[in-house]
Amino acid sequence: MRKLKSILILMLGLIPTLNAWSQGISGGKKISSDLFGLFFEDINYSADGGLYAELIQNRSFEYNPTEQRDWHPLSFWEYISPGFSYGQISVESASPVHANNPHYIVINAEHIGHEREYYGETGVGLKNSGFDGIVIRQGESYKFSIFAQQLSGNPVNMSVSLQSRDGNILGEASFTTSSNAWQKYEATLTATESSDSAKLVVLLTSTGKLAFDMVSLFPEKTFMNRANGLRPDLAQWLADMHPAFVRFPGGCLVHGDGLGNMYRWKNTIGPPEQRKGQRNIWGYHQTAGLGYFEYFQFCEDIGAKPLPVLPAAVSCQNSGGTWRIGGTGQKLLPMEEMEDYVREVLDLIEWANGPVSSVWGAKRAAAGHPEPFNLEYIGIGNEDKISPGFEERFNLIYQAVKEKHPEITVIGTVGPFHSGEDFDKGWDIARKLELPMVDEHYYTDPGWLLGNQSRYDGYDRQGPRVYLGEYASWGNTLLNAIAEAAYLTSLERNGDIVWMASYAPLLAKKGFTQWKTDMIFFDNKSVCPTPNYYVQKLFMTNRGDVYFDKVFTKDETDTSLAASCVMDSRTGDIILKMVNAGTEPKMMQVDLTQFGAKLSGGEKTILAGAPEDSNSFEDPQHVIPVTTGIRLDKKMNYSAPGMSLTVIRIQNKH
Ligand code: AHR
Repeated sequence: MRKLKSILILMLGLIPTLNAWSQGISGGKKISSDLFGLFFEDINYSADGGLYAELIQNRSFEYNPTEQRDWHPLSFWEYISPGFSYGQISVESASPVHANNPHYIVINAEHIGHEREYYGETGVGLKNSGFDGIVIRQGESYKFSIFAQQLSGNPVNMSVSLQSRDGNILGEASFTTSSNAWQKYEATLTATESSDSAKLVVLLTSTGKLAFDMVSLFPEKTFMNRANGLRPDLAQWLADMHPAFVRFPGGCLVHGDGLGNMYRWKNTIGPPEQRKGQRNIWGYHQTAGLGYFEYFQFCEDIGAKPLPVLPAAVSCQNSGGTWRIGGTGQKLLPMEEMEDYVREVLDLIEWANGPVSSVWGAKRAAAGHPEPFNLEYIGIGNEDKISPGFEERFNLIYQAVKEKHPEITVIGTVGPFHSGEDFDKGWDIARKLELPMVDEHYYTDPGWLLGNQSRYDGYDRQGPRVYLGEYASWGNTLLNAIAEAAYLTSLERNGDIVWMASYAPLLAKKGFTQWKTDMIFFDNKSVCPTPNYYVQKLFMTNRGDVYFDKVFTKDETDTSLAASCVMDSRTGDIILKMVNAGTEPKMMQVDLTQFGAKLSGGEKTILAGAPEDSNSFEDPQHVIPVTTGIRLDKKMNYSAPGMSLTVIRIQNKH
C-alpha cells in the first residue's frame, strides 16, 4: 500500500516538471506548493480582543478567578444608575440561555429617575469599556445584540448607547422587550463622532426585572462582511500574505494545561451563545466566538488550506507550572473516553468534508456552508511529551483516521525542540507508524538558523515529511528576519521533504504580549508589521513548486549567504531569492541559461537595512521592502546588499 502511495506521489511529483516543460523549461525538482503558511494561536490576545471583531469584553459574564485572580462575572462591566435611578443587580445561573454559557445578569430596575435634562440619561444598567476602550469611527455602523428575558412579566424599555469617556452620547438606539423567554434583540448604532475609547451603555429605562446575557457589539464592516466575523484591517494583513495554509487554533492552546481546557472543536461551533468559553492556557478568557466555523471560513476566504490541529488526548507536560520550572505534568484522557474522543476527531472530518446528508455535514450546512471545506490535513498533538500514554492515544487516533479517511494527511508531533528526547522518540513513532508527516518546532537564535541550513539536506526522502509548524529566531530585528530568510531558502531547497512551514506566533496585542517574538503587533486601531512579516510575505507571495539548482555560484563556506531558485508552474515565472546576512555587500553569480530564451522582464524586491533595524508603532514603515524593475542578463553578477533579502521574479514568455 505504502509502495503504491509512493509511486502515486512520484507520478504526481512529475506533474510540475511536465508543466515546466510545457513552459519551455526542463529539469527542476518537484517541491511542495504548500510550503509557506500561517500559524494562528489565541496567544497575546490574538483572537478575543484581536482578530475576532467582537468589541465587548466579557460579553457573556463568564470571566472568573481561575482565569485571573481578580476576575469575576462582572469584570470589565460597571453597574450604573444615572439620574437618581436605583435598582438591584445579581449574577445568576439557574436558567441560562444555554448550558454552555451558564452565567447571566439579572437587573431589577426599581426606580427610574427623571433627571435626563441634567444627567443626559436615566436608567439602571451596565457599562462596558471593551478591550481597553472601544474604537468607533464617525459615520460607521455597529451591530448591537443582547439576549434578554422578562422576569417581572411586563415589557421593559431599554436603551443602548455608545458613549465617549466623559459620557457624551455618540450613537444610540432603544427597544422594548417582548418575551418571558430568552430572546435576542438587535439594533444598529451609527457613530456620530469618532472615539478610541468609547464605552457601551445598556440601560433599563422603565421599571421591571430583566435577565440578560451575550451583550455584543460588532462593527458592521467585518472582513468579507462575515457575520460573527473578523477585524477587517488585521485580517487583510494576513490575506495579503497569500498563505498556502492556516494552522489553528495553536500551539499549546490545543492541548491546554490540564484536561479541563483542552480545545474541543465541537464546543466552538453553532450559535455563539451556545459555545463553551473557557480559560485559555495563556491566562485569559477564550470565548470560542472565533471557532472552527470561522477558522475554516477565513481559510476559504483567503484561499488558504485549513490545517486544524487537534489534541492527542493529552494535556501540556507543563500543566500547572511555568516554562522554567515545569508543572504537574502531562494529563491523559482516560482510556474509557478514547472511543468518544476518536469519534470526535472523525466527526471533524465529516463536518468539514461530509455531504449535507451526513450528521456533521448537515451542521456545517446549517451554519451556512453546504459546500465542503476540502480539508486535506489534520495535526494530532502539539509538541507533547512523547510518553507511553501519548503514544497509545496517538496511535488509536491515527489508525482510526487512516482507516476511515485515507485521503487525509495526518501530521504527528515530535516535541518542542529541534533535537532531544521527545524529538527522537516522536520521530521513532512516526517512522514506526509510517506517518505521512510530522510537526517540528524550534525557537532559536539567528546564528543557529544560519549554521543549520543543511539540516534537511540529509533527511530520508522515503520517511515522513516535515511540517516545520513553529519556528522563529528570537527577535524582531532585521537581523532576525534575514536569518529566517536564509533558512527559508534551505526549506525551499528541501521542499521535497519539508512540505509545510509556519512562523510562530502570528499576532500580538500591544500591552498584552506573552511571547517574546511575534510576527505582527497590533492595538485596537493600528497594525505594526515586523521585518519578519515582510520576509514571510515575500516567501509566500513568491512560492514555487519546482526547485532548480545550478543557478547560483557563491562562497559555499559562507553561511551568511543563501539563495534559492524556484518556478511557479502555474505562471512559469522563475523566482530567485538571495540572502546576505552579513553587514557588507557580497557577490553571487547567477546563471539563468538553463531556462533558455523564454525569460522576459522581471521585478526586484529588496528588504534591507541595518541589523538592529526594526519597526515600531511610531515608525511602522521603518523596514519595508522596495520593488523596482530589473534588466536581466542570462549570466549576471549580483551584489547582495548587506543584511538583505532580494527577491527577483522573472516572467516567463510562454
Ligand atoms: O508559539 C507559542 C508557543 O510556542 C506555542 O503555543 C507552543 O506550541 C510553543 O511552545
